[in-house]
Amino acid sequence: MNLEFNKIFASVLVALLCMQIFHLISENLISPTPLKQNILGIETGNEIPANAATPQETSEPIGKILSTASVANGEKIAKKCLQCHTFDKGAPHRTGPNLWGVVMNAVAHASDYIYSQAMKSHGGKWTYEALDAYLQKPREYIKGTKMSFVGLSNAQERADLIAYLSTLADSPAPLPQ
Ligand code: HEC
Repeated sequence: MNLEFNKIFASVLVALLCMQIFHLISENLISPTPLKQNILGIETGNEIPANAATPQETSEPIGKILSTASVANGEKIAKKCLQCHTFDKGAPHRTGPNLWGVVMNAVAHASDYIYSQAMKSHGGKWTYEALDAYLQKPREYIKGTKMSFVGLSNAQERADLIAYLSTLADSPAPLPQ
């Protein structure tokens, strides 16, 4: 009886020892590489894309909105600018410069208007994107601009307005595709 028990005990021990040894061997043979990302791609619904914008500033690329922009509506919105700007060719400057031909023109495009230092030294062109950013928050886009206009928060309104501005030229610049 005693001997029988010893045998059982010994075989269990041997079995355990073998398991331990096989485990050690197999662990060393196979070295799993952790996945860089979850290949199952389970949508949890609460992931925030890195480039997510805050809702009121969600700006679709202006080009996309411009393709469906309403020039007629833009002309109406442009009334907000009339207090300080003229739009007709050769019309005089007011508080702000005449805006004929401003789209795709140099920033500070009017040679006979006295711009702020900030606007003068900004450089670059009034591309559709630049105008979109400037008209959204003028004083943030060009810090120190003397254009005291709060900006237009509505992306569609800006696109309509910029589409209208782009018609104010002898040969209007094509809308971005
Ligand atoms: C309260 C007056 C005022 C209003 C309203 C205003 N602007 Fe201006 N705007 C200015 C002044 C002043 C400047 C010159 C800014 C500077 O030199 O920093 C300017 C400059 C600009 C420029 C740059 C012109 C250039 O030659 O580079 C653009 C474009 C422009 N305004 C567009 C608009 C549009 C579009 C609106 C209407 C939505 C508008 N502004 C409303 C005063 C105004």
